[in-house]
Amino acid sequence: MAIQQQLIQWASAATLVTAVASSANVWAQDAHSYAKLDEVTTPHLELDLTIDFAEKRLTGTATYDLARHGEADSIHLDTRELRIHKTEVWQDGAWQETAFALGEPHETLGQELTVAIGESSDKLRIHYETAPTASGLQWLTPAQTAGKKHPFMFSQSQPIHARSWIPIQDTPALRLTYNAELRTPKGLLAVMSADNSLSDNRDGSYSFTMPQPIPPYLIAIAAGDLEIKSISDNVAVFAESYIVDEAAWEWADTPAMIEATEEMYGPYRWDRYDLLVLPPSFPYGGMENPRLSFITPTVVSGDRSLINLIAHELAHSWSGNLVTNASWRDLWINEGFTSYVENRIMEALFGERRAQMELALGYQDLLVDMSRLAPEDTVLNIDLGTRHPDDVFSNVPYVKGQLFLVYLENKFGREKFDAFLRQYFDDFAFESISTAEFKDYIASNLLAKYPNVVSMDKINEWIHQPGLPADAPQPESDAFAQVEQQMQRWLKGGKLQTAEWTTHEWLHFINNLPLDISSTNMQRLDKDYDLTASKNAEIAHAWLKLAITKKYEPARERLRNYLLTIGRNKLVSPLYRELAKTPENLKWARDVYQQAKPGYHPLTQSVNEALLYPQN
Ligand code: BES
Ligand code: ZN
Repeated sequence: MAIQQQLIQWASAATLVTAVASSANVWAQDAHSYAKLDEVTTPHLELDLTIDFAEKRLTGTATYDLARHGEADSIHLDTRELRIHKTEVWQDGAWQETAFALGEPHETLGQELTVAIGESSDKLRIHYETAPTASGLQWLTPAQTAGKKHPFMFSQSQPIHARSWIPIQDTPALRLTYNAELRTPKGLLAVMSADNSLSDNRDGSYSFTMPQPIPPYLIAIAAGDLEIKSISDNVAVFAESYIVDEAAWEWADTPAMIEATEEMYGPYRWDRYDLLVLPPSFPYGGMENPRLSFITPTVVSGDRSLINLIAHELAHSWSGNLVTNASWRDLWINEGFTSYVENRIMEALFGERRAQMELALGYQDLLVDMSRLAPEDTVLNIDLGTRHPDDVFSNVPYVKGQLFLVYLENKFGREKFDAFLRQYFDDFAFESISTAEFKDYIASNLLAKYPNVVSMDKINEWIHQPGLPADAPQPESDAFAQVEQQMQRWLKGGKLQTAEWTTHEWLHFINNLPLDISSTNMQRLDKDYDLTASKNAEIAHAWLKLAITKKYEPARERLRNYLLTIGRNKLVSPLYRELAKTPENLKWARDVYQQAKPGYHPLTQSVNEALLYPQN
């Protein structure tokens, strides 16, 4: 009876909260979470989970330490498609069952879970299981792996998918430490964003500790038929055997990258830095899960030309994982800073020419995005409302954020700006900060320190206005200027001198071919340089996209194969978007998509279904 009353009370309270939230966002800083951090926080999590491949489920418990900041006798957690079996609080020396209520499912946010925690209990335990359709997990059958013998599963929690596999206060404003016990079928190795062991034990029982406080979106899990190959004392590759040696060769520069970053921005504070190669269906290029970045196999190109992605994920060990965006409106604080640091790492290791080419490629991608986005979505401190951050993903937080920092570096000079950044990483280490806090910090620690260099109005323009300021850097590359000259000669029938070209020059060349290029010239290019057959996933992507636009049919089978074997959304969705432009191509694309769908991650499915079946 008491429980019934409590539930009724909650139901009406929930309605009230929704009403307040839609009129003004006053009750929480993070519009993408039901958590009320001002009442109770969960500074530590213990996970105890069984990975059930047959049912595509995680089953077990999440146990939290509770830290109380207000008077509340309930806690509000985020969930999505979770089955909650039982909730308990630790009271008077024993676990005691307590009441819980699940709110109405919300398309973007999932379901609020409210649990009664009384007034004094300091531990909460939730018994639960995940759904086979959990948005933050992908389950692959043995046939869908390279080795074909064992299944594979992995998580992608950023931005708001941790709640689909852990009931949690799923806001990056929270930081928590965690331990975990995982059980898998024998022979499989489980890994997490924690202290992975290099041992060859595969007995199906694994323990993890993450002693540094991290935001929930950095909790990560994977299990599969993994081998381990060390690159150095503190760096190793975890991968299926088919690619473990190639990946270790491809990423041999990682230890030097760590040293270069420490030199510029202070110590690497996470102990080991390992790299996990995911199956080709991994929806991102990389994900900066602490101590163990998750990486797509599509950057193992055989020539080390795409290792800026490793520099990027490593850079997040400072920008993002150490100093974290407080909400998804502040994503530029993670990705803009990281793109800047990434490029500095590339410059430190490989010189200015390569770094400049990569900056220029990013700038061109930004311009393309800016021309397709609504002006308000080109603002750094974006107004998401309750839109899903996944639906608003673009180059803006990355490249506009990066250009903002390049601008500041140019204005203050590298020495002063580097000192500022290094201090920033120290001052906010293991904290989550909002755009407003960043503005206060830069006002006192850079603008006021060196007056009359950059005004606060200028900072506000960068952060709150659409588009780019008139005096924004416009990165160009001498190497690319030469590519363009060659292109002009080639279009008139001349030969290209490509012996010295790297992936970067090829990408610039393909992306800048004139829109009215003749089919004879398409054929000529393909015949001379075998672009349809390119094994470099980025070059193949650029070429296939052009082939769709130009109706270059000899690339059709390669396109089908590409869409069936790669699930990295950045490589796949521009192709579907291009195909959706004509009725015949749309029909063909839908056929291919239906065939590919079982192998795609939930994110890749939802983004591309929106492109191919827009009315739904
Ligand atoms: N953290 C991001 C991926 C991400 C961002 C996932 C926002 C979900 C929401 C990761 O570090 C990233 O940026 N990956 C890029 C790397 C590239 C910019 C070098 C990618 O996957 O392409
Ligand atoms: Zn990133």
